[in-house]
Amino acid sequence: MDRDNVGRAFMVATRYENMPEASDQEQNLPQPPLERPAEPGKKIIPLTRADVLNVPPMDLRKALEERLSIRAWADVSLTMDELSWLLWATQGVRKIGFAVGSQRTYRTVPSAGGRHPFETYLVLRAVRGLPPGIYRFLAIDHALQEVDVSRDFSKDIMEACKKQIFIEQAAATFIWMADAYRAEWRYRARAWRGIFQDAGHVGQNLYLAASNIHCGVCGIGAFDDIVLSRLLGADGVELFPAYAAAVGKLK
Ligand SMILES: Cc1cc2nc3c(=O)[nH]c(=O)nc-3n(C[C@H](O)[C@H](O)[C@H](O)COP(=O)(O)O)c2cc1C
Repeated sequence: MDRDNVGRAFMVATRYENMPEASDQEQNLPQPPLERPAEPGKKIIPLTRADVLNVPPMDLRKALEERLSIRAWADVSLTMDELSWLLWATQGVRKIGFAVGSQRTYRTVPSAGGRHPFETYLVLRAVRGLPPGIYRFLAIDHALQEVDVSRDFSKDIMEACKKQIFIEQAAATFIWMADAYRAEWRYRARAWRGIFQDAGHVGQNLYLAASNIHCGVCGIGAFDDIVLSRLLGADGVELFPAYAAAVGKLK
């Protein structure tokens, strides 16, 4: 593989005119699930639903003017409701419907072709009422599922993110894991473009929603794909880290 030119080769190979073959959707292959199923036997924690969350109104212009990346936080825990708000803002499901030949979720973020390929994983260090550990957001049920709460993984997530020291101090780290086939089913290899376009929207919603609850965010693109995937129990290919972000309370 010509690694120096793989990006250019990808962009050329995924031009519409260079990929005339039918996608799996066009060949009537079954649609993959809208979300990976919850793991049997692991604890599920319901979250306060967005419509009853008590979040103050927010001036969008002010939020845009003040947005910046934050890498140092107050030593204060997030509340479960604050976490619920951030999860809803980034991946919250408003409804499930059917359009353009497939079932789809409608969320607080847009997604290419409504595929919504992400599973949100969380490394939580300081959320009131939750033991530190690794969790997954079950977006359709608006709930958390424990993945591994046997210990605090904040040092592991810092190391997986190329040893960026500040990440160890985050109250929560969000990792958006992309389920490649969910998008590929419709778009073949062009799906990967949409995955990263989608990730940008998700990240920006996190920045804006965090500012409304006195939190600060830093987007994270520097991570070791294999180490991070292993930490979260993913294979790193079919389910791979697309983007991440560290969150904490503002000083
Ligand atoms: C896709 C993406 C990946 C990023 N990855 C990192 C990262 O790994 N570490 C880091 O400290 N900042 C990271 N950042 C934050 C940028 O450095 C930051 O947005 C940029 O310096 C502009 O600063 P501002 O966000 O305060 O305007 C990332 C931002 C984006 C959008």
